[in-house]
Amino acid sequence: MKSLGKFGKFGGMFVPEILYTALEELEEAFIKFKDDENFNKEFQYYLKNFAGRETPLYFAKNLSKKLGFKLYLKREDLVHGGSHKLNNTIGQALLAKKMGKKHFITETAAGQQGVATVMAGNAFGLKTKVFMGLKDTKRQTLNAERIKLLGGEVIPVTRGHQVLKDAVDEALVEWIVNNETSHYVIGSAVGPHPYPTIVRHFQSIIGKEIKSQIMESEGKLPNKIIACGSGGSNALGAFYEFIDDEEVELIFVEGGGKNAVDEKHAAAFFKGSPGVFQGAMTYMLQDEFGMDSKTESRATGLNYPARGPELSYLKDKGRMKTEYATDEEVLVAFQIMSKEEGILPAFETSHAIAYLLKLEGKLDKDEIVVLNFSGRGDKDVQSAINLLDIKV
Ligand SMILES: Cc1ncc(COP(=O)(O)O)c(C=O)c1O
Repeated sequence: MKSLGKFGKFGGMFVPEILYTALEELEEAFIKFKDDENFNKEFQYYLKNFAGRETPLYFAKNLSKKLGFKLYLKREDLVHGGSHKLNNTIGQALLAKKMGKKHFITETAAGQQGVATVMAGNAFGLKTKVFMGLKDTKRQTLNAERIKLLGGEVIPVTRGHQVLKDAVDEALVEWIVNNETSHYVIGSAVGPHPYPTIVRHFQSIIGKEIKSQIMESEGKLPNKIIACGSGGSNALGAFYEFIDDEEVELIFVEGGGKNAVDEKHAAAFFKGSPGVFQGAMTYMLQDEFGMDSKTESRATGLNYPARGPELSYLKDKGRMKTEYATDEEVLVAFQIMSKEEGILPAFETSHAIAYLLKLEGKLDKDEIVVLNFSGRGDKDVQSAINLLDIKV
């Protein structure tokens, strides 16, 4: 290994030895190609012509008026497939091809990572297996069906609580067995080194675009950037370009569940502590023996007991503020965004919107807030209709 993949005390590579060679091979490929001109040309080509980048930085005039400051939405919901996830899967597909891999393995919860992986896999001729908690296949049926229609294999995971972390466990087992021919596309900035760095690298296009777009429309940097997350791929993607711009406040919003204070939730920053989880030292919800706790969140994509190691580092350093939103606040935010701006947000994204709404009347009218709009809400429409008892 060229690097230990540490972010302060976080990160690292806590895996069985059997995976060392595969991780080393991946790190080598990443180091070799990340600054390679031809590799990046091809990456940019697919981001533009397959994914549909650059995504707009949209001035949300109705909500700006209501909230009393300037609100811009970074429209990652408009990326092909409906979320930011494709930025990373295209990058990893290119790396997998360079390494001569034939198959993709991935995990998914909201289904967006599964859809994005099969899409990129198909574009590059890689067959994809998607591990998805059985419970999530039922909550996110539309995406499970999309994966199948695209020709991906959905493997419902029946172990544990049948959610994201169980899907990651199963995908890791599959990778241990088949890593010579398969590449494991981790969908968030989590897991052992070099994954958190690779995922952040491919997602950092989001922040680069935000910076040039806001300079063009406002001539200055935003005051705040808000993003939801679990492992942090969309948040780090949006934040990374601004880490050294200390005047830009970076705000991360996690899943508060029913009530993060005394009920089940997924608020690992609010209620968790550092521990080792799925290959890395990171903030996690754990019991007295260091075992991860069961989580709950209205957003399947945030229903995960750990945060990514780089997010954990930014939190401890004081560079990133952390907040949570409850399931109830999320449902309200979903409706307000849909009705005010005509854009249906994913339940994950609605966490960031829920925090945004709390800023009403608290900022100066010239202050600029960018909200990273990580995904579209089609997958959550049925749940919202049931929860709101809407008859059509
Ligand atoms: C739309 C959307 N936003 C956010 C997330 C959270 O993932 P991350 O923290 O990697 O951005 C997910 C995960 O499934 C998602 O589908």
